[in-house]
Amino acid sequence: SIYLFFFVCVCACLSFSACLQVTIEGKVGGSAVLPCSTIDSGLKNEDITVYWRHNSSQNVYDIIEGKGSVEKQDPAYKNRAGTFPNEYMKGNFSLKLNNLQYNDAGKYVCYITKAYQNPSTQLFVKDRGNHGAAARAERIASFLILLHILQYI
Ligand SMILES: *[C@@H]1O[C@H](CO)[C@@H](O)[C@H](O)[C@H]1NC(C)=O
Ligand SMILES: *[C@@H]1O[C@H](CO)[C@@H](O)[C@H](O)[C@H]1NC(C)=O
Repeated sequence: SIYLFFFVCVCACLSFSACLQVTIEGKVGGSAVLPCSTIDSGLKNEDITVYWRHNSSQNVYDIIEGKGSVEKQDPAYKNRAGTFPNEYMKGNFSLKLNNLQYNDAGKYVCYITKAYQNPSTQLFVKDRGNHGAAARAERIASFLILLHILQYI
């Protein structure tokens, strides 16, 4: 039988600067759950915005402010993609793809973004020396890259 390989990349914006990668295997006609979770706790529905993308551009599924959305979904995934709303609060935004097809193989990225905080809150971040500054610069850099990617969605 034929196996499909899914490379899932989880990018938790503003929480991690690294991208966690896993490989998931599925069969044509079968289904697969692509994992995506964050260790962030105490999430409120309004704060949860997640974008699932395939091969960097195709819109597979969106979670906008705690609600699943297929408004901008690529027709290729119509009625085949879903998430688990009961798991959102636990930081679990895994995606289930049904009736797998050849073209489903490839790289999936799960972008976890928190709703923007009030900018004045961010001004309270204090400089804790070089280490802190470097870590912060890295986070800002990864956030800019994410914004750059989001421009093309
Ligand atoms: C996320 O939810 C799915 C569906 O219930 C489950 O299969 C998966 O194990 C959960 N992942 C985590 C990290 O809890
Ligand atoms: C996505 O990329 C994979 C690997 O390069 C390819 O096999 C697959 O056909 C692509 N799917 C789409 C829909 O572009």
